This record gives sequence, C-alpha cells and structure tokens, in this order.
Amino acid sequence: MKFLTKTIENYEADAVICFVYENSQNQSPLFKKLNEQTNNELKKQIFEYKSIKGSVNEVFKYSINENKKIFICGLGKKEELTRKTFSQVIANIGRIIKSLNTKSIGIELIENKSDCSCVLNNFNLEDAAKITLTALRIGLYEFTKYLNKNNEVETIELICENITPEIEKGAQIGAYTSFAMKFAKDLVNESAQIVTPCYVAKIAQEIANEHKLQAKIYDKKEIKETKMNAFLAVGQGSVNEPKFIHLTYKPESTPRKKVALIGKGITFDAGGMNIKPATSMLTMKSDMTGAASVLGIMQAIAKIKPDIELHVISALCENMTSGSAYKQGDVLTAMNGKTIEVDNTDAEGRITLADALCYADKLNVDEVIDIATLTGAVIVSLGHNITGVLGNNQEQINKFIETSKESCENTWQMPILDELKDNLKSEIADFKNTGGRNAGTSTAGWFLSNFTKSKKWLHLDIAGTAYIDKSNRETLSGATGVMIRSLINYLLK
Ligand code: BES
Ligand code: MN
Ligand code: ZN
Repeated sequence: MKFLTKTIENYEADAVICFVYENSQNQSPLFKKLNEQTNNELKKQIFEYKSIKGSVNEVFKYSINENKKIFICGLGKKEELTRKTFSQVIANIGRIIKSLNTKSIGIELIENKSDCSCVLNNFNLEDAAKITLTALRIGLYEFTKYLNKNNEVETIELICENITPEIEKGAQIGAYTSFAMKFAKDLVNESAQIVTPCYVAKIAQEIANEHKLQAKIYDKKEIKETKMNAFLAVGQGSVNEPKFIHLTYKPESTPRKKVALIGKGITFDAGGMNIKPATSMLTMKSDMTGAASVLGIMQAIAKIKPDIELHVISALCENMTSGSAYKQGDVLTAMNGKTIEVDNTDAEGRITLADALCYADKLNVDEVIDIATLTGAVIVSLGHNITGVLGNNQEQINKFIETSKESCENTWQMPILDELKDNLKSEIADFKNTGGRNAGTSTAGWFLSNFTKSKKWLHLDIAGTAYIDKSNRETLSGATGVMIRSLINYLLK
C-alpha cells in the first residue's frame, strides 16, 4: 500500500472521503471543489434535503460515475470532536470502502482547532495527518491470507490544501505506525502451527538485516548459559525449542533516552499441565502479541530514525502439556537468583517475563516497558477496550496514559501495592507464581516488579485488548495491534 500527500488540485483517487460537522454550514475546500464537480448537488443534498445531519459516523455516498465515488462523513459537533472519535469515524469509513473493491482512496486532511483548550479536542495538522492515515488503514485491514481474496487498496492519498513539512512528518509517522500495526496483526492472526519461536526469531533476524540493526538471537543452549532457567522451564514441554531475541536500534547521534521494550512471546499457551479448557485455549495463538508488537514498533522506529536507543526483547516459547513439561511444585531460579515455586503452569507469562526483565537490567537503559497478554483478570476489570497500565514510576505512568489518549487508545492504571506480596508467599521459594483469583492483574504486576532493577518500569496488560472475537469501533475481530500507536508516540516524545 502506498501513501501519498496530494493537493485538492492534483489528487487522483477513485473514492474520495470528505467530512462535515453537525449543525455547521462551514465547508472545507475539498467539499467546495466536489460540490462544483457535482453542479451544486452535494450542497443541496446535505444542506437542503438533509440527506445527512453530520452526526458521528453518518455516511452519505454520492457517485459521480461508476469509478468516481464521494463519501461524506459526519463528525458530530465541532467542539465535541475528540481524536478518538475522529479516528473511529475514519476507521468506520475504511471498513465501508473496503467492501467496494476500490483501488485508490483519497481522504481529506482536516485539523480541529476548537475553542476547547483540552489537548484531545484540539489537533493540529501533524496530528491529523498521523491519525487519518493510521485510522484509515486500521479500517481497511482484514486477514485475508486463507480467504482466497485480495481486495487490498493500492494507494491512499491524503488530500491537503497546502502540503507543509508538518503534514509530511505526520503522514510519514502515520504510515510507519500503520505498517507496524499491520505487521503485528498479520503475525498474531497467523496460526501457531506456523508461528513458532523459531519462525519469530527468523523474522526478527530478517528485520535486523533489512534495517541494519544489531541482533542477538539465543537458542536453547545459549539461554541456559545466560541462566534464564525460569524461562527455559516454561518451554521445556514443547517440541518447538525456545528462542530469545534482542534487537538494538542505535541513532547516529548520542541517544536522548535509552529504552528496553519487552514483548511476551508465548507462541501458543495451552496452559501447560494446568491445561486450559477448550474455550479459553481457542485464541491462545495470540499469546505472542507482545512479541509481534515490539517487532512492529522496531521497524517503525528504524524508519523514523529518532535520536533514541531502542532495545526490543522477547522470550519466545510454547506452553504445552507433555511428558517433559514443567510441573506444579517445581522451583525455578530466574537469572537474578530469585526462586519461583510453580503454583500454576498457566501463569507462564510472568515467568518468561521475569527472565526478560532481568536480561534488560544488564542493558543500562533509562526505561523498561513490557507489553503482555498477561492476565484473564484484566478482562474482568477493564473489558476488551481498555488496556491495564501498571508500573513503579508514577511520572512515567502519567506520561504514558496521556500519550495513549493522544493516540486514540484507552488505558487505565491498576495499582501495585506492597500488600500483594502476601498473596504470593511460598514456604520453599521466594514467591509462588500465582495467588488466587482476586486482584489477579495487580498480583501479576507485583510479581514482575521483583525482577527489574529499573526505577522506571512500565507494564501493559493487553490480555483483554490484543485480540477480540467481536469487532469494536475500529477493528474487525482478531488481532487489534493495540498500544502500538501509543508506544511509538511515547518513544518519539
Ligand atoms: N495468556 C494468559 C492470559 C490471557 C487470558 C490472555 C485471556 C488473553 C486472554 C495467561 O498466560 C494466563 O493463562 N493467565 C492465567 C493466570 C492464572 C493461572 C493465575 C489467567 O489469567 O487465567
Ligand atoms: Mn497461561
Ligand atoms: Zn499466557
């Protein structure tokens, strides 16, 4: 898919998307041009015949001829329009247009300088370009590999009054962000039969080669030598051997900040000996969403080339039942020497992340962030539209949550309190890996906090938001690419 910035005079797309606000006679320059092309028909339709009012997600379609179609989309009241609503309106029209087999789409660039001083009701042209391209591609996404159909849109033209450097910048970041999301979603939607630790490691190596990144890929023997024995135990029940990946992007100049980004990489979570019931296991090919996300983000960063240092890490393995699987009651020793009594083999993510966090301690970074499909409990607390945010640095948490709002994504902080320690008390080891049903997300967060020395550690629990079986306001069912936008924007700050 190609992204182009075009002016009102020279765009070429077959389908054109243009916006109107509710109760507003103000027309954009593109609207005026389309109105002229239709001999004033658009104005009549909308302002006289009231074919649409302009409320959120209303769409009015007008065909000039078989190959030239106009879509007028309602944005609601100007002063109420938020980035998130804007993004959802665009994703929605993307979904509608996808079904029409259009090869090229033109979309109007608008900014919203409303009177409201709130940052979310106020987006400049750079933000608008970024949101527009990302949201449109979210709406257009479909996992078609096994469907024998290919209706991929070839070009998207962002139609501007004047093309400025800030628009070009926003469009570029938007294009790379939407690529990162598509990459991650494709990898998550692919079956676990194909996406094994070895497969993901190969992709990581290819990414490193293409973008000239440092890559260190550890096989089973090297994982053992590095003393990541807790991680190793989780993978020991599978015929597919574990891999540990570490890619590094370094800027040409001195980095302004150094960040380690860790993605949970369970390529299939059967639960281990504490095997999951069939309905819970159904979507567990998605338990490597963290790994797919960080690999997507790394590609965007390598293209945007900011002056930061980025380490992308994932401990990849399968959690299976078999004669060689790890068992309840086993005591595992993580890389930092702390011991874990296995209370439940299905709480495997925190065990693999423990070693990944210890590994990140050795990299001398300013911040550590992990993204993980970690607990079913986060679904009970926050549902499928909100990602849980935990950590040990309130300033970092606040900054991330603010960035997620600017990125049109929902987050909510969950607490980590010292009392949670009591849930994980073990008689024979430093901790057990589970502590009952209550406060499951916070307890898992507390567990993880013991394996990092970083004073700026952030944990994103995406178990509810990574993969959905009913479409939400942006994405069809399946992988969502959640938090990729927020993390890229956060890294660029
Ligand atoms: N991968 C799951 C968490 C999950 C659940 C992700 C639902 C996506 C959707 C994780 O490894 C897991 O099994 N967690 C257990 C922990 C429990 C045994 C303490 C859970 O949440 O049930
Ligand atoms: Mn599990
Ligand atoms: Zn899991």
